[in-house]
Amino acid sequence: MAGVPILPAPVRGERRAGRPFLVDATTRVVVAEEPEAVCAAVLLAHRIGRAAGGPVPVGHRDDGEPGAVVLRLAEPGGLPLPPGLAPDLAAEAYRVEVDHARVVVTAAEPVGLLRGLAALDQVAVPVQGGLAVPSCAVLDHPRFAWRGLCLDVARHWFAPETLRDVVLLLASLRMNTLHLHLTDDQGWRIETPSRPRLTEVAAATSVGGDPGGFLSRPEYAALVVFAAAHGVTVVPEIDVPGHVNAALHAYGSLTPSGEPRPPYTGVGVGFSRLHAEVADTLPFLTDVLGDVAAVTPGPYVHIGGDEALTMHAAEYDQLVGHAAGVVVGAGKTVVAWQEAARARLPAGSIVQYWDEQTAPDAVLAAVRDGARVLLSPAGRAYLDTRYDRECPVGSEWSGRIGLRACYEWEPADVLALPDEDVVGVEAAIWTETVATPRDLFWLLLPRLAAIAEVAWSAPERRGWPDFERRLRGLTARWDLAGVPWYRPGLET
Ligand code: ACM
Repeated sequence: MAGVPILPAPVRGERRAGRPFLVDATTRVVVAEEPEAVCAAVLLAHRIGRAAGGPVPVGHRDDGEPGAVVLRLAEPGGLPLPPGLAPDLAAEAYRVEVDHARVVVTAAEPVGLLRGLAALDQVAVPVQGGLAVPSCAVLDHPRFAWRGLCLDVARHWFAPETLRDVVLLLASLRMNTLHLHLTDDQGWRIETPSRPRLTEVAAATSVGGDPGGFLSRPEYAALVVFAAAHGVTVVPEIDVPGHVNAALHAYGSLTPSGEPRPPYTGVGVGFSRLHAEVADTLPFLTDVLGDVAAVTPGPYVHIGGDEALTMHAAEYDQLVGHAAGVVVGAGKTVVAWQEAARARLPAGSIVQYWDEQTAPDAVLAAVRDGARVLLSPAGRAYLDTRYDRECPVGSEWSGRIGLRACYEWEPADVLALPDEDVVGVEAAIWTETVATPRDLFWLLLPRLAAIAEVAWSAPERRGWPDFERRLRGLTARWDLAGVPWYRPGLET
């Protein structure tokens, strides 16, 4: 039986004989009474309503009649999943069964229903008056628990509307984490009440003199809720102890001279730093990380830690250690770039591997001490790079990355670690050269789809020709929705 055009590739998916299920204005959505499942059902009804040209009802009672899309929460063990599948992976598992009479999506947790609906979206085809969903059966769960995108909103600012579009894109690819790189030399992008000058003074700039901006607390809270409704966790990054010129510009109390630093709109890295001997430094870390943790319901706060190139190890260790202590004290798990591995992070921290040019000894030692690794190898997962020589936007410092190179790599080979030590895979897009939503989406797509599949699908489910074939279904949808994507990338 032919496969189903789902991307990332599912564990099992097959077309079945028989007529498709027709979604139209008479379709009903039936859902369990759990609030989060109801939220998924309402999102589904909204999508169906748009395709069918009128509202469709959501109810709790399943009378078994045809014409229903049923969202069910299974009892634990109610889905046929591999024994011993980790709970965070089982939470996102789903089963989809479609015949001409009904669609049934089953999951152990509401987030699994969202993943099932994202898959269903990809098999549905527009027809007159609504959608046709081919008869099929899908059973699926992710390989890795963390499938993310790090988006740099500090070098260039992207407004909440664009961030919501990114969330929708991630959810459509069954990715679950939006890591926001909120602070850097060029701007501070989150309102931080204990230190108001960070956004009053240091949010207005971007690279090249482009306009800045920031998320107010209500805007950040709204984004977090929007993302959660789509099964996406927001991970805020406050990058310390380097990459801090914006903070030094806002507060002269953070510099040895007491004078604020001038704003910075260039693209250099590694020149700015906090100073352990300056009296305001530790209170500053306590204040800003405390503020960000307080407004973040998700379990993680990222403390950066990369490229503090002008700091001795002992001072670095002290500052990173303090930052990590604040995050743990706020009840969150520390995430940090790989450089921070040397600072003996709290057990259970997540170390984000990116720099393939540096020996990973400290990262591997951190794993032996109980850390897990998030894989963002720059040569595969840094999507600010150009696809090819012709690509009009993007950087080249980590090479050019064509779609195929983005797709054909195996996470277990990066550091020779077993899957238990790898929390997941995250793409990153740095925005020194990326100033508009169009350029952002161009660089992301189609490569983000490749990263999504590397992170979700087991190696035996992946293969280039089949990926290319399924990708054509996605690019057609992006075209219909007006989502920009980079075409020559398909051939590279
Ligand atoms: C990084 O690319 N500096 C994390």
